[in-house]
Amino acid sequence: MTVHLKQDEPDNSNRLDGMKQGVLGKPLPRIEGLAKVTGTAPYAAEYPIDRCVEGVLVTSTITRGEVTSIDRSSVLSMPGVVAVVDDKKMSTRAAQGTANEAPMQGPAQVCYWGQPIALVVAETFEQARDAAKQLKVEYREEEGAPLDPNAVEPEEQEDETVHQGNLAHAMAEAEHSVDVSYTTKGHASAAMEPHAAIAEWDGDKLTVHASLQMLNYNITELADALDMEEENIRLISRFVGGGFGSKLGISEEVVAAALAAKQVGRPVRVVQSRQQVFQTVMRRSETTQRLRLAADAKGKLTGFGHEALVSNLPGETFAEPVLQSSHFMYGGENRELMLKVARIHRMTAGSVRAPGEAVGMPALEGAMDVLAEKAGIDPVELRLRNIPERDPEEDLPFSSHKLAECLKQGAEAFGWDSGPRQPRQRREGEWWIGTGMASAARVHNISEAKARVTLKADSTALVETDMTDIGTGTYTILAQIAGEMLGLDPGQVLVELGDTRHPRGPGSGGSWGAASIGSAVYIACKAIREELAAKLGTSEERLDLREGKTTGGEALTDLLEGKDLVREGHYQPGDIEDDYTASGFGAFFAEVRVNHYTGETRVDRMLGAFGFGRVLNAKTARSQCIGGITWSIGVALTEALEFDPRDGHLVNCDLAEYHVPVHRDVPDLEVLLVEERDGAASPIQAKGIGELGMCGGAAAIANAIYNACGARLYDYPMTPDRVL
Ligand code: MOS
Repeated sequence: MTVHLKQDEPDNSNRLDGMKQGVLGKPLPRIEGLAKVTGTAPYAAEYPIDRCVEGVLVTSTITRGEVTSIDRSSVLSMPGVVAVVDDKKMSTRAAQGTANEAPMQGPAQVCYWGQPIALVVAETFEQARDAAKQLKVEYREEEGAPLDPNAVEPEEQEDETVHQGNLAHAMAEAEHSVDVSYTTKGHASAAMEPHAAIAEWDGDKLTVHASLQMLNYNITELADALDMEEENIRLISRFVGGGFGSKLGISEEVVAAALAAKQVGRPVRVVQSRQQVFQTVMRRSETTQRLRLAADAKGKLTGFGHEALVSNLPGETFAEPVLQSSHFMYGGENRELMLKVARIHRMTAGSVRAPGEAVGMPALEGAMDVLAEKAGIDPVELRLRNIPERDPEEDLPFSSHKLAECLKQGAEAFGWDSGPRQPRQRREGEWWIGTGMASAARVHNISEAKARVTLKADSTALVETDMTDIGTGTYTILAQIAGEMLGLDPGQVLVELGDTRHPRGPGSGGSWGAASIGSAVYIACKAIREELAAKLGTSEERLDLREGKTTGGEALTDLLEGKDLVREGHYQPGDIEDDYTASGFGAFFAEVRVNHYTGETRVDRMLGAFGFGRVLNAKTARSQCIGGITWSIGVALTEALEFDPRDGHLVNCDLAEYHVPVHRDVPDLEVLLVEERDGAASPIQAKGIGELGMCGGAAAIANAIYNACGARLYDYPMTPDRVL
């Protein structure tokens, strides 16, 4: 039996807080943690499958044009080689990023350097790799593909455009005004587990083990790519070694493995090399952003302008949503926002770690620091003065809004000095020391979700959904929600994820996972509780279950009388989405040291205070925040995709050359979880947390660099050559 809930009203009943078990919210360690760290959790490529052969992708060495011939005979006689697959279904650029619905391009058409064009299959990986290198491919190259986003006429994304009042006038009249331009470089998702798939056919039934974030969506993509019915496909992704956006959609290895397995009549495994993951899966667009802020004598904004230029391939629908939180972050009645996309032939741009705010907020919050300095107002105070009562563009209420609390509690915990600020005040030896802060914001996304919950006759429970756990803690929080609702220890709840045989979850992405699937599990459990309450002649609200018993001492096993209770929860966001602006908010504080001679920046300490609705597990939530702050150090100081200006190929395509922060770059980070319930955001009053921790943090570091050494920088990452 399925129980549907379409949320049209906020639920402020605080029912979950009234439950007495105290399981939800607890800092439980991840229940799959032991399996992961002892190597017994299988990742996509690690399933032992009989007669499996290995496929290696061959990628384009031209930027734009077409493949005129692939000479299979050049490799078919090499040792172990089984087949060369160049089916035109293979090149599924539609896979890259949820927003991307570009028409499928056959392998004959090449539109970026590194685009997969064929797959070589052999008995061993080494044989396949060797043959893939030897495969003779001929192209007809179209010269002159545009590669520089600043050298083409960009397209305006009209649905992002806001013209409200008269910003130019507000700027001219302002007591204090700021007009600054920032750049950010492209980013790679840089998940540890490379993209991988094993495909196996049984007649017309296809099973694929793959590393994916959104099985509910990926199964549709794969069915489309292969022209199959979804019922004939099973996708399995039980453990995922990070996604960060790059596994929201299927990539070529999934389709290639499926096609090859059909062609050779054996299971086929395809694992992208680290270089291929970097060069073919997707990138975050670089950005150029202009910020205009007009303020009165008290620093209150009267005008707000944010314009951004991003890039993508011709025909792609995804545009890095740089302005996403700028629409509602601060007031200012005169507004000018615009997003433009340059069409260039670098690999596909798509969703990478907090698409939009990850790069938009660092620019906005850098500009706010410039304004604070000009107006002589403490940066924390400046933000407090500019928190809008309602969404300044949509004129909607916020579902809940904890920015002020985050700013105040964060400042207090960090020991923020709200006295007058001037750069170059503290020096220790060759190091300048300074502090900086920034606000955080990330829109709240939520998605339809289904989950089945079984309360078994032996008073254990089973939760089943095709939701994924990409390292975020989904297994654990679902055990906690079911445990809390059903009066069970979370250890009594078995959670089965990552298999399309289960009800469709929301997938992991855009920080919507926990609130969406958590709500589906909540709805299913509530229906089970109603059934139990009816047996006891009471109401669900009054039912108090703890440690497998009612408070009256009746054991669940007796109540169940040998029968399982099964309910499927179906959550849909509903009309409530149109009634509120919903976002997570937060504040970052950083102390950095900058070397006087080398320009090297080290982050000494960083604190983030975040409000994102109900905390489902204080430990996994904190870990998400720590991960986010770590990525913000990457945005601030190290991460940058470098493209060859001649052919647009990505030059730094591994973790040695593309610098994500490592332990030495990350000090002890402090995280404050600010108490919040958001009954409009989801039935469980939770919002997203996965990405909030990186949305603006880079500006706290940039602002601290300025405070330390007086170098006001407008280009991220702030590498030593720029700081000097
Ligand atoms: Mo995220 S970048 O939507 O996985």
